[in-house]
Amino acid sequence: QRNERESMMLVSEFAGKYFTKMLNETDEGKSVGLGYFRSRGFRDDIIHKFDLGYSPEKKDALTNEATKQGYKLEYLEKTGLTIVRDDYKADRFRGRVMFPIHSLAGKVIAFGGRILKTDVKTAKYLNSPESEIYHKSRVLYGIFQAKQEITRHDMCYLVEGYTDVLSFHQAGISNVVASSGTALTPDQIRLIARFTKNITIIYDGDPAGIKASLRGIDLVLAEGMNVKVLLLPDGEDPDTFAKERSEEELTQYIQDNQKDFIKFKTSLLLEDAQNDPIKRAQLIQDIVRSISTIPDSIIRSVYMKECSSLLKVDERVLVQEIGKLQRKKS
Ligand code: CTP
Ligand code: MN
Ligand code: MN
Ligand code: MN
Ligand code: MN
Repeated sequence: QRNERESMMLVSEFAGKYFTKMLNETDEGKSVGLGYFRSRGFRDDIIHKFDLGYSPEKKDALTNEATKQGYKLEYLEKTGLTIVRDDYKADRFRGRVMFPIHSLAGKVIAFGGRILKTDVKTAKYLNSPESEIYHKSRVLYGIFQAKQEITRHDMCYLVEGYTDVLSFHQAGISNVVASSGTALTPDQIRLIARFTKNITIIYDGDPAGIKASLRGIDLVLAEGMNVKVLLLPDGEDPDTFAKERSEEELTQYIQDNQKDFIKFKTSLLLEDAQNDPIKRAQLIQDIVRSISTIPDSIIRSVYMKECSSLLKVDERVLVQEIGKLQRKKS
């Protein structure tokens, strides 16, 4: 078992080096892969910092090279790098720009690969499958490159995807990780908790991003951590938003527009809830439910006060309701 994991780590590391070599040293990689990253405005230092790569179009480029160098097909298959069916062998990743996913310790444990054109019908990103060395619910993209800065700032930005992380780094903000499309999990939040108790969620400014933010709020609160949310303008994601701004502008915008979860929910829903008692009641119930998930009673009471004054509801009623919800849970 131990040997198996080690062999899988070794072949992943090899694949990571292979993909970066393809990107930086082959004609195909340079014109297609580097060309793609540059067309999106990514600088060379960022491309190197994240060990970005390129997987050639050829059906079995990586598989051939790896086996030639003595790596066993068994581990190429177990890491999902090679797809094996009867006597058919092919690379999983072909003609894609490659984002290696690092463990907390900086080892390559999986990959995300992006197609270059989005007009084709296949999924935009292809990811390594779950394996002995890659449990996607326990990993955060960028954690290795971010951990020191998270500690230093005592704060972590949580974004959606690979390029969001890259663009924040490029803008000079390095305390950032991505949940990478998978729904956020308690394990991922606990991973951040090793470095800070403060999270600001910056998801895409679309309905899916808003929904995921609302879900993220409760997960973070349940871990006893502090959460703020920044809602981006519709159609923007952290990548596009960061690219249009300097570090100062970006930091300033975040400072000015991030909201604690009560203000976030209120601003989302109060517009049409303002003059509608039923909707207002629903909003209050929603916020009450979130507050009831906070483990610390002092923090809970701080938020109850805020909710009470912001939504003009008697604090004693809130205390009562939250008490009920908590009794129901235990
Ligand atoms: N994702 C995925 N598979 C998909 C779509 C998305 O794994 N088919 C993950 C990727 O990690 C992606 C993240 O979810 O980075 C966020 O998805 P999305 O916002 O759709 O993509 P972007 O990160 O904005 O990708 P890009 O800017 O390259 O278009
Ligand atoms: Mn910094
Ligand atoms: Mn999205
Ligand atoms: Mn996006
Ligand atoms: Mn994007």
